[in-house]
Amino acid sequence: MANPLNLTSNSLFFIFTLTILYVAYTFPRLQPNQTNLVFFVHDHFTGEDTTAATVAGKTGPTSSILHFGTVAIVDDPVTDGPTMDSTLIGRAQGVYINSQLDGKALFMVFSVIFTTGQYRGSSLEIQGSDIFTMKKREFGIVSGTGYFRFVKGYGVMETEFMDLVNLRATLKLNVTVKHY
Ligand SMILES: *[C@@H]1O[C@H](CO)[C@@H](O)[C@H](O)[C@H]1NC(C)=O
Repeated sequence: MANPLNLTSNSLFFIFTLTILYVAYTFPRLQPNQTNLVFFVHDHFTGEDTTAATVAGKTGPTSSILHFGTVAIVDDPVTDGPTMDSTLIGRAQGVYINSQLDGKALFMVFSVIFTTGQYRGSSLEIQGSDIFTMKKREFGIVSGTGYFRFVKGYGVMETEFMDLVNLRATLKLNVTVKHY
């Protein structure tokens, strides 16, 4: 014998389910935004405008950054163009560790802190390996602040200029991030 009360609650449940499905499929999903930016980082281990220094390594604090095990701290200028007279848009601050036995790759972990322009007050957190003998190498963007809250992404690094004798280099970073 059918119970009328049960029938009503079954119908209600059916309508409820339909409503949920309708809402779930009709309302637009939250789509991540994508931002692409290109900037240049200037690494100077020597010269009057030195911004990078080795602090530890197998032969002490003056170990070469080109040798396995050396740790360097950087506070590099970040510009919007490849030359030093381009607009300064921020600083790249963090650590490089030579982490390949033959000395030909760094592990880098640093923040890009934007001080001027569109992304002023925001930062990107960069982490990855820099196999600097390769023309292009990819690294990860693990997070960010301000405009870049909740970001994840990747970047491609290219050596724009390299003076291996004086350990001065300009790196082009092309970053693509997704965020909400
Ligand atoms: C940056 O990288 C993207 C692919 O990730 C590429 O389409 C774009 O042309 C690059 N931009 C520059 C200026 O190199």
